[in-house]
This record gives sequence, C-alpha cells and structure tokens, in this order.
Amino acid sequence: MKRIIAPSILAADFNNLGKDIEMINRSEAGYVHCDVMDGVFVPNISFGVPVIEHVKKIAQKPLDVHLMIVNPDNLIPSFVKAGASIITVHFEACTHLHRTVQAIKSMGVKASVCLNPHTPVAFLEDIIAELDMVLLMSVNPGFGGQKFIENTYKKVGQLRSLIDKNNPECLIEVDGGVNFETGKKLLDYGANVLVAGSFVFNSDDPVNVIQKLNSL
Ligand code: DX5
Ligand code: ZN
Repeated sequence: MKRIIAPSILAADFNNLGKDIEMINRSEAGYVHCDVMDGVFVPNISFGVPVIEHVKKIAQKPLDVHLMIVNPDNLIPSFVKAGASIITVHFEACTHLHRTVQAIKSMGVKASVCLNPHTPVAFLEDIIAELDMVLLMSVNPGFGGQKFIENTYKKVGQLRSLIDKNNPECLIEVDGGVNFETGKKLLDYGANVLVAGSFVFNSDDPVNVIQKLNSL
C-alpha cells in the first residue's frame, strides 16, 4: 500500500526554518505538512499564507496544508496561490462541506477532509467519493507533542473499509503522536500518510527518523 511520511513543520526551528525545509528536501519525506491555526477553531495560532509562500520557494516536496481554521472558504484561494498541493479542511469547520471540497478541486489542488478525534468516520459516507485524502486526528488539534489517542486505530480500520468500497485511490493520513510504535500499528490498520512533528524534529537525526518511519 502507498506510504508517505509528512514531517510537520510546526515542530521545526522557526529561527532556521529554511534549514529544516532543506533537511526535508534531503530526506525520504513525501510531503511537507503545514499546520495553519487561527486561534478560533483551535486554541493556538501558528502561521499562515506568508510563511507558506516562503516555504514553497525552497521546498522540493508537495505542501500538505492542514487548515485548522473557521470559514476556510474565504482563504482557500490564497493558500492555493501560496503553493499548496493538498488542502485539508476540518469537517467540524465546514457547514457546506461538499461545496468547499468542490471549490478546492476546481482550483487544481487535492482535496482532503479532517476528522477530530470525536467525529465518527461514518459522517464521511456521503462525501468520500469526492475526496483525495482523509486526515484523521489522533490528538485534539492545536498543539504538537501530545499523547496519541488509541481509539484512532479503530477509526483507521473503519475508514479503510469505507475507502476500499467507495474510492480506493483516496489516501488515509493520520496526524498527532506518531512515532515508530504508533506509526507501525497505523500502517497495519491501513493508513497511508503519517504526519510526524515532534518525533522527527526533536531527534538528533531527523533524516534517519524519516527513513525509518518510511520503512516500518
Ligand atoms: C496538531 C497538528 C499536528 C502536529 C503533530 O494540531 O495538526 O500536525 O504538528 O505534532 P506531533 O507529531 O508532535 O504530535
Ligand atoms: Zn496537522
């Protein structure tokens, strides 16, 4: 099954962001995961369009932009222009999710929907055929370095069945608390894309950690 490692630059050194992007370029990572937080949908503020524009100038891997923001529709064109290849919106933040997904796809980027830990996979039944990727949060969004929520494994299994029946090309990404142990189990349950922030950037040899995650 397809597997991609997506280091989250939320845990990068913002005084040396270019250096960390170059590390990702040299590594076996498949995406650069960019966590955008608005202080409203989640209780934290991270970075937005201007930072992503700068990341795009040096990143050699697709930008996987995770929008933890309310009213994403207003800002989606700016993130596309900044260089996003994949845009993830939260199920919980989109009243007209079908419209939002169509808007993302009409701009030529891949559309992904994220579920918070409490949101059932079954809520995706009527939209799954439209999606390029589903992101399952395995922590409550807002912060890096949190403990993995074990219930996520069950959700990955349920999502794998839903996808295999309805849209086999759709990828399953998991975000939060990923390490060698949780990562291995997530892959066994059917995940394709592993986001890892603190586990990669807090290590002495991030390139090696990414390589090991890629060969679990
Ligand atoms: C959390 C973010 C994650 C975060 C993961 O709201 O969406 O992408 O950076 O961090 P770790 O891997 O440290 O749990
Ligand atoms: Zn994320």
